[in-house]
Amino acid sequence: MTSAICITEFGGVDTLKLQDINVGAPGKGEVKLQQAASGLNFIDVYHRTGAYPNDLPLIPGVEGSGTVIEVGENVTNVKIGDRVAYAGPIGSYAEQRLISADNLVLLPDEITFEQAAGMMLQGMTAQMLLRQVYKVKAGDTILIHAAAGGTGSIMSQWANHLGVKVIGTVSTPQKAEIAKANGCHETILYTQTDFVEEVKSLTGGKGVDVVYDSVGATTFIKSLDCIKPMGTMVTFGQSSGPIEPILPITLMQKGSLHLTRPFLFHYIATPKTLNNCASELFEVVKSEIVKTAVNQSFALRDAANAHTQLEARATTGSTILTI
Ligand SMILES: NC(=O)c1ccc[n+]([C@@H]2O[C@H](COP(=O)([O-])OP(=O)(O)OC[C@H]3O[C@@H](n4cnc5c(N)ncnc54)[C@H](OP(=O)(O)O)[C@@H]3O)[C@@H](O)[C@H]2O)c1
Repeated sequence: MTSAICITEFGGVDTLKLQDINVGAPGKGEVKLQQAASGLNFIDVYHRTGAYPNDLPLIPGVEGSGTVIEVGENVTNVKIGDRVAYAGPIGSYAEQRLISADNLVLLPDEITFEQAAGMMLQGMTAQMLLRQVYKVKAGDTILIHAAAGGTGSIMSQWANHLGVKVIGTVSTPQKAEIAKANGCHETILYTQTDFVEEVKSLTGGKGVDVVYDSVGATTFIKSLDCIKPMGTMVTFGQSSGPIEPILPITLMQKGSLHLTRPFLFHYIATPKTLNNCASELFEVVKSEIVKTAVNQSFALRDAANAHTQLEARATTGSTILTI
């Protein structure tokens, strides 16, 4: 027997309970992992509350790192003893788990288990957003909401390195300092000022090339007013709640904007796309272009406390559950 956080009903943080589980043996194409750490991400909140529905009972968590301890039939990309990491398949709040070998990447020696658990999902999301969804180029000006958060911190550093002018929104002066240290050229306290006016003033009235918006309900519509004509709106999360529907003609009225709603797991659905995305992330981390920050670490059994902190906007950078 081994332990995992299980939820048997959707709801608040009290639903996150440590239980004994029987993991069993890996099937065809699967491996068993001894996990070292699990990442904590906002999507875990959506899974816990049922905002993104799943069958119950459920072991939450979509990101982790650890060592391969058993290998099923037809597995060729990893072997027993390999250090690996992943983002995607639900079930990472666990000491041990089964996982499809196709979802794993080999971890370079320079990257620790804790670092990997804190960056695979947020880091590959940053790669997807900046390098695939809207490919930023030197000279672009971009707006990143929640710039001191896990995904925002990685994006700010990476975009800055690519020669982009980065404007980041944050809720507190302390978070503004973090965002600036991460490469934001300008920060906006969007809880205290009108971020549309601020962006207009910072861009000489032109607007930004792209907005990366993970906050959703409270920022989506106003973000459209921050974008220059024919620019791009990337909505990729809803930390403040779901977005109200809009009519396509709104995009014309706001300046013939492009709107997209990407999901990382579509962008890393095959071993080839996964490995391309992960290797680019590993390169920027190894060369310290992106410095990952695991600013909060909780024991697996304290997952409820970790969720409380994340939802209260009390975290910065990445958060992990250690095992
Ligand atoms: N589409 C994808 O494939 C994909 C992949 C990864 C992540 N995401 C999304 O990206 C977002 C960021 O994820 P993350 O794990 O890196 O989290 P995070 O940014 O570290 O945490 C969320 C941040 O959102 C901001 N926020 C604004 N209003 C909020 C509210 N009402 N409640 C809570 N937070 C609020 C807070 O920053 P301030 O205090 O500065 O406002 C908070 O720290 C999430 O929405 C997640 O679902 C999407």
